[in-house]
Amino acid sequence: MKLSITTALIFIITLFSCRQSGNNLALQQKVDSLQHQLAATYKPGFGEFMSGIQVHHAKLWFAGKNQNWKLADFEIKEIEEALAGIQQYCTDRPESKSIGMLDGAIDSLNRAIEQKNMAQFKSGYLLLTATCNNCHRSTAHEFNVITIPVNPPFTNQDFKAP
Ligand code: HEC
Repeated sequence: MKLSITTALIFIITLFSCRQSGNNLALQQKVDSLQHQLAATYKPGFGEFMSGIQVHHAKLWFAGKNQNWKLADFEIKEIEEALAGIQQYCTDRPESKSIGMLDGAIDSLNRAIEQKNMAQFKSGYLLLTATCNNCHRSTAHEFNVITIPVNPPFTNQDFKAP
């Protein structure tokens, strides 16, 4: 009798642990499949963020030049968002660690826009553009030369304040 109780107990425990390991296996398979899906999810690349920044950099100039401070504020915030995106999604790129080098120029532009100060806007914009090129030079992308735009990037947008 005593033996059969022990046997029954061992049987139950074995059964339980078998079910447990079956559950663990199913769980592990689920985790593996999710990891696989995550790795295959589309993430914008560093160059795509840069192309977006290029557009906002150009628009920012014409917004500021036209003293359209609300638009200028919008464009600088778009640049800031793209820079945050680089830091979030491009952690595999060593250049992402140097993104903070733009902070000084962006702060200065934010202040200029807030104070509607054209002279400060221009000097902030020069500093921003020089910093873009400093990074391009220091990361062997010196062939991407950023300049102050001559013409508005789009003909279907009015840069003057409405
Ligand atoms: C921290 C470094 C860094 C800073 C700061 C930086 N860039 Fe870049 N930029 C890069 C790198 C690296 C690439 C090459 C990306 C790639 O591999 O596709 C690049 C590429 C570009 C390109 C080419 C994109 C393309 O695919 O044609 C443009 C345009 C550009 N940057 C604009 C800017 C502008 C405008 C600024 C300043 C507001 C700026 N960048 C600031 C590192 C930087």
